Amino acid sequence: MRVLVTGGAGYIGSHTLLELMAQGHEVCVLDDYSNATPEVLNRVRVLSNGTVADYTGDVRDPEMLDQVMQIFRPDAVIHFAGLKAVGESEAKPLLYYDVNVGGTLALLRAMDRVGCRTIIFSSSATVYGEPVYLPYDEAHPTAPMSVYGQSKLMAENILTSWAKATQGAAAVLLRYFNPVGAHHSSKIGEDPKDIPNNLMPYIAQVAVGKRPALSVFGDDYDTPDGTGLRDYIHVVDLARAHVAALDYATKTPGARPFNIGTGQSYSVRDMVAAFESACGQKIATIQAERRAGDIAAMQADASRAAAELGWRAEHGLNDMAASTWAWQSANPNGYDPQK
Ligand code: NAD
Ligand code: UD1
Repeated sequence: MRVLVTGGAGYIGSHTLLELMAQGHEVCVLDDYSNATPEVLNRVRVLSNGTVADYTGDVRDPEMLDQVMQIFRPDAVIHFAGLKAVGESEAKPLLYYDVNVGGTLALLRAMDRVGCRTIIFSSSATVYGEPVYLPYDEAHPTAPMSVYGQSKLMAENILTSWAKATQGAAAVLLRYFNPVGAHHSSKIGEDPKDIPNNLMPYIAQVAVGKRPALSVFGDDYDTPDGTGLRDYIHVVDLARAHVAALDYATKTPGARPFNIGTGQSYSVRDMVAAFESACGQKIATIQAERRAGDIAAMQADASRAAAELGWRAEHGLNDMAASTWAWQSANPNGYDPQK
């Protein structure tokens, strides 16, 4: 299939390009490089020994979208492009709604203009909010606790209405849990622009000496060791879920959400310990207050994805830590050697 990948130069998008090409799909990227660098696509080209068409532009720009749609004529779109920092979303709500909701609307309109009816959307487990029960299944109530989460839920609702109203349309809503890890080549991985918000990239930067210590946010949660529990998923497994979702979407019209996690959860201390054994050194930690907006525990019931997409996660905690360390130690400054 010909697959347009918005945000394809980003962390999850770049790993997904490799999995798509490995399965014989043709890819084209639209990215504005607001949180990525073109060097990512150079590395993807080398790793895949394949062709990656790319356009620099904003997913909210209808003229740019028309140009890409008319030249590439995609059979399907995978929509990663968006903003993802929870704290920033509270400070800049209009920007987040504009990019995450407005971007999705602009993309669907452009797809309608060329009759493209298949889309895979990057949603998040954050749409569930405070757990009523765990593990979350897809029927769990949605009550996002941040502007970011609201913007993802709004986009899901728009995609669901579009799929209902559009003959033959399919929208697969992938609710990611916590993506971590890197490609086994160590050539692509997560490269946060500023101080990492998320746990794994922060630990990795402590390990290479870029940060003095990890602040452990809260040790008094109702969890076995008092620190937060999350369902971490290897980014290569997550990338493969998109390939499975494409196959599913071509056979199944309508909109459907899927949890994409492992079904297991680990604490902050588990992650630190796994990283210490991967990198062979101690990770300095400081006990800190709980982070505002955090919940104690999250865990996926990923059985729908197994039953209907035929997808399940294959990488375990050791792979997640080892691949993160391999990427970070080979690229201590990420994609930018000057950083
Ligand atoms: P990322 O920031 O690495 O990738 C997003 C890409 O989109 C970047 O390359 C960025 O330059 C591009 N982009 C941003 N705004 C754009 C715009 N207006 N037009 C065109 N391109 C634009 O993030 P990621 O971690 O790869 O996440 C990809 C998607 O998955 C996002 O939609 C994110 O909200 C969602 N998601 C991520 C996580 C996570 O923990 N990483 C969890 C759940 C959901
Ligand atoms: C965060 C976002 C969530 C988003 C997800 C993936 C918040 C409140 N939530 O979730 O919406 O979908 O990232 O992008 O920002 N931790 C530390 N020290 C750190 C960083 C994290 O102790 O420096 C702890 C956290 O308290 C949490 C766990 O590590 O218990 C995981 O944190 P993180 O990687 O930020 O993911 P989430 O909190 O699940």
